[in-house]
Amino acid sequence: MAIAPFLAELERLREDASSALRDAGDEAALESARVEFLGARSGRLKAIQKLLGGLAPSDRPAGGRHFNDAKAAITDLLAAARERLAGQGGSAVDAIDVTLPGDPVRLGHLHPITRTIRQVQEIMSRLGFESVDGPEVEDQWHNFEALAIGPEHPARDPLDNFYLAVARGADPLLLRSQTSTVQIRVMEKRRPPLRIVSLGRVYRPDTADATHYPMFHQVEGLLVERGTTMAHLKSTLRFLASSFLGGDGNVRIRPSFFPFTEPSVEVDMEWGGRWIEMGGAGMVDPAVLEAVGYDPDEVSGFAFGLGVERIAARRYGVADIRDFYRNDVRFLQQF
Ligand code: FA5
Repeated sequence: MAIAPFLAELERLREDASSALRDAGDEAALESARVEFLGARSGRLKAIQKLLGGLAPSDRPAGGRHFNDAKAAITDLLAAARERLAGQGGSAVDAIDVTLPGDPVRLGHLHPITRTIRQVQEIMSRLGFESVDGPEVEDQWHNFEALAIGPEHPARDPLDNFYLAVARGADPLLLRSQTSTVQIRVMEKRRPPLRIVSLGRVYRPDTADATHYPMFHQVEGLLVERGTTMAHLKSTLRFLASSFLGGDGNVRIRPSFFPFTEPSVEVDMEWGGRWIEMGGAGMVDPAVLEAVGYDPDEVSGFAFGLGVERIAARRYGVADIRDFYRNDVRFLQQF
């Protein structure tokens, strides 16, 4: 084959490729142009490459050079066409306008109950109360017996507790029904003087309503020192109420009964002109002190247990404690 028709063929191929790649309006058209001209097996360039062997040996170097030039030019045209289509699609990195304001990142915040827990811990720490934790799965000793709640006491009724179906025979474990368990756990391990506060989950099969939930939180306070009296109890509760609720933290105590305190009281806080029960309290019963090896003639103590959801509802003006657990972001965003 003479070189002239070979070069003419190469030139025609270059023009055809140029217009096909320029006109390609989408990815599919571009791909079919690529296959037609640069396809490894049956592309038109490949076909011309085969003609190279038919050139006279003296023409081959020049033919090869022209062939390589044409191939490089078509490859460049393909890259340019690709870039043009990517720009049209709007997905190109170049399309980012760095002068526009960014998308705001949505920040979350702590749940109001978690916030309440931390605030109460902080307030009590100012009075020297150390924050401690206890297990949520308890044995009967810590949830009842050590708190002088005997086997016949109605508080142990299976209908009032979440007993766990584990193989412990007559002494099944349960989800703790009160944080008073932590009083015992701490007194068993430490000697007075003692000031602890414990905030955590407790469980009771109560029907959920505006002031009840089957899982809720309590704040337990315990102080055991020489010469402790009811006056210390009441001033501690007033300090907690006024620090947590602000200036209007009116506290009222009414006589009541708990097996592990003597005397015992109910603690009410004023809310919207009404008194709302927030928890129970009292002087630690000497029998409880004895059960953990303390000498009731040496030391005395007070304890209290308040509902965290109730004091949080009081503080934030929430009418129904179920709202804390509905997972409705519109509600939670308000805090
Ligand atoms: C007790 O649980 C005693 N352990 C409190 C105590 C501690 C007395 C230390 C003496 C010394 P009570 O069962 O009354 O007491 O519960 C205390 C508070 O928990 C209630 O006043 C209420 O605020 C809250 N509470 C009780 N049940 C629920 C419930 N289902 N949902 C939300 N809060 C509850």
